[in-house]
Amino acid sequence: MTSSTFRPMIPYPIFGKGVRRSKGVTALKGNIAVTRAITEIIKTTLGPKGYSKILYTPKGELVITNDSATILKKMDIFFFDHPISNILIEVAKTQERMIGDGTTTAVILAGELAVKAEKLLDQKIHPNIIIKGYKRALDIAVDYLQKISSIINPENNNLILNIVTTSLQGRNLGHFAPYIAKLVMEAVTYISEKRNIPGTGEQLYFDIDNIKIVKALGGSLPESELVKGVIIDEEVVHPLMPRRIVNARIALIYEPLELRRRKDQRTFLTSYHIEIGAQAKIKSFKEEEAKIVQEKIEKIIEVGANVVLTPKHIDEIAQYYLAKANILAVKRVRTTDMKLLTKVTGGKLVATLDDLSSKDLGYAGIVEERKIGDNKFVFVYECDYRGAASVLLRGNSDRLLDEAEREVNNAIMNLITFFKDTRVVPGGGATEMALSYAVRSVATRYPGKEQLAMLAFAEALESIPLTLAENAGIDKVDVITELRPLHEEGKHQYGIEVISGKVKNMFEAGIIEPLQLKEHALKIAVEAASIILRINDILVAPQKKP
Ligand SMILES: Nc1ncnc2c1ncn2[C@@H]1O[C@H](COP(=O)(O)OP(=O)(O)OP(=O)(O)O)[C@@H](O)[C@H]1O
Ligand SMILES: [Mg+2]
Repeated sequence: MTSSTFRPMIPYPIFGKGVRRSKGVTALKGNIAVTRAITEIIKTTLGPKGYSKILYTPKGELVITNDSATILKKMDIFFFDHPISNILIEVAKTQERMIGDGTTTAVILAGELAVKAEKLLDQKIHPNIIIKGYKRALDIAVDYLQKISSIINPENNNLILNIVTTSLQGRNLGHFAPYIAKLVMEAVTYISEKRNIPGTGEQLYFDIDNIKIVKALGGSLPESELVKGVIIDEEVVHPLMPRRIVNARIALIYEPLELRRRKDQRTFLTSYHIEIGAQAKIKSFKEEEAKIVQEKIEKIIEVGANVVLTPKHIDEIAQYYLAKANILAVKRVRTTDMKLLTKVTGGKLVATLDDLSSKDLGYAGIVEERKIGDNKFVFVYECDYRGAASVLLRGNSDRLLDEAEREVNNAIMNLITFFKDTRVVPGGGATEMALSYAVRSVATRYPGKEQLAMLAFAEALESIPLTLAENAGIDKVDVITELRPLHEEGKHQYGIEVISGKVKNMFEAGIIEPLQLKEHALKIAVEAASIILRINDILVAPQKKP
């Protein structure tokens, strides 16, 4: 080898220009620091005394909420620039999607488990051992959760009301929570269906899409109401039409009731050919057109309909003939509403007027237009079928209505979760205290390092009662010293009631939650913490300029 062919070994860069990398314990500790920062923010929203956040996005959007899934979603997009926030946002999203409530609890537990691991890492305990300890503690906790749960009779409305109120109390509704809880309970029980499941027999079935939430600007939250039917966010199309029909026979028509064929739509004119000679008389042509429309409206009258609802357009001539026949008509009804309308009225959505017959008509005791605040709505209710209900939310600002909608949606989901599994556990941190005690009391049976991880798990659980107390301005040390001996005596129902600031039996105080909510929160929290603890390398590619 000559000196000219000799090339010294020059380290070749593996990663592209601008790639940022952090690895090993540095990466892990960095991730834990980010987890801590996010968890601290989310913690302050927990419980009835939790705080809300104002999020002002670069787009100028202003959101005021204490819903952690919403906070995390917005923070992830606009405020945090770190992969860890994605893991925590997934926790919130999954809990929200699967249960509808308990997102803050799940995120706090996930965060605390990751944060508590830091001390163990400093003691040179390998992340895998920590994860093993957490998983063992989870099994013990889930097992104990079943033991402390009580089965509730799904027809016991008082207890069901307690579940919904507990769920809504963690929110912004304040002292209106019991009123809104009643609406939620009535809506969910109203849409329940009994279905025969092969093997298990008759079971209750719920489809959340059968509850429509309608936001009406104007008025205040306690003026909200449950309508056992469908509220359409449109008005009656013509001023000469009736505003209220009793014993409504409803035609649900998909065909646009308009004269001229538009480029993208097939209208009832399609099958007509009007020939205009060289000296076409415009007047007679118009009359001919009007006659065609009149014939079509006559078809509607003939089948006996006194209400027409369509997702399509109704033009002026059609409106005129409908009004003349005293028919109430609404156009541009949302397709999702049309589906609900077929359910509650028992009517059939017909593709064209030619298909319409009297047996396709739906029935409602009342169809009426009501003005609420500045807007008009059409209410279809007193129907023969129970398939769908609408919750009409009243409020004096869009922001309040948006938040109330989120809260009601989550409470509905949470109640459906309960009906699927009617076991409940005490709230107010009682369950977490009980599980913490259960894990602590068996941890000594396990090897040293794993035992330490199990004790860290028990500590993370205590962060729920501690945070509830802290947010309510109650001394957390007092709370924990009062709660621990009670739980050692097996009084697992005892937690902190933050309105009165007293340690109480949560079942007696009516603060109860579905077992599924807690179980799911625990499981995804451990899963997320394990993911965080398994990451030892972060590679960030440089941002490409748009
Ligand atoms: N009056 C009360 N006193 C004490 N704790 C309460 C009371 N009402 C509800 N809680 C508790 O508040 C916690 C729920 O708070 P919150 O609703 O803010 O969080 P989450 O349900 O975990 O998450 P999210 O509602 O944002 O999905 C539960 O532990 C519940 O038991
Ligand atoms: Mg909640």
